[in-house]
Amino acid sequence: MQDKIVYLNGEYLPLSEAKISVLDRGFLFGDGIYEVIPAYFGQLFCLEAHLQRLNNSLNAIRLPLALNTQQWLDILQPLLVEGDAQYIYLQITRGVADKRDHAFPEHCKPTVFAMCSAIAPFPRENGVQAITLDDMRWQLCSIKATTLLANILLRQEAVDQACAEAILLKEGYATEGAASNVFAVVDDILITPANSNEILPGITRDVIIDLAKVNGMSMRVGLILEADLRRASEIWLTSSTREILPVITLDNKPVGDGQVGPVWKTMQKLFQEYKREVL
Ligand code: PDD
Repeated sequence: MQDKIVYLNGEYLPLSEAKISVLDRGFLFGDGIYEVIPAYFGQLFCLEAHLQRLNNSLNAIRLPLALNTQQWLDILQPLLVEGDAQYIYLQITRGVADKRDHAFPEHCKPTVFAMCSAIAPFPRENGVQAITLDDMRWQLCSIKATTLLANILLRQEAVDQACAEAILLKEGYATEGAASNVFAVVDDILITPANSNEILPGITRDVIIDLAKVNGMSMRVGLILEADLRRASEIWLTSSTREILPVITLDNKPVGDGQVGPVWKTMQKLFQEYKREVL
């Protein structure tokens, strides 16, 4: 393992020397939140939007830690390495308490950890396979919580079936992927579910919605019924580390004609152009 430099509680140190207490509430309870911020050619992408979501997550778990954009930049920028696609993983837990107790400790200093990793090149052009699974997660999916056991089990079920992702279904409609948002093209209209407590408000999702609007594409933010998902001509999964992934089979059946679709090709081009423009 490469002994890269990471950030932990005000210090930059080799990964092998970055240690936290076993009493950290992140370790004991998953009492923490995180962000995954992509960076291209050494520049953080959509930083403000990621920091806004970070603050929303902190507020939602009642963890006061108010750093401004410049303060976060000062912490994160030194971790970035020159080169192509990287991402910052940033995690904040409620910190180390002197005993294990579910209720918040009275005095506790948040643990702040950040590291930079390469975004592994993901072959998108040929599309990926996905399965559907029952969305059995909790009712606070809009918080980017480190408590990810349900998501992990769902993703692993997909991997066990040689699929890239599980698309989650709840009461007859699609919510999101185990670690991604979902889009479908139904009757030539691009649809993605509205933000709610049932999904993570994805930053990649927001960029795509804006690009679709600005470029006059037919787009709707609303329910994707399971029946519509199953007859969609295109399905995409979006996230900061995988960008826009076209799904060519769902539950072993072809999506549309089983090829990467034209709407994805248009959006892929717009997204790559946008990345270059804003950097
Ligand atoms: N996950 N929904 C869930 C449940 C996710 O975990 C993610 C991203 C997304 C997409 O959000 P964004 O476009 O902001 O990356 C949606 C990250 C990449 C992760 O957990 O590693």
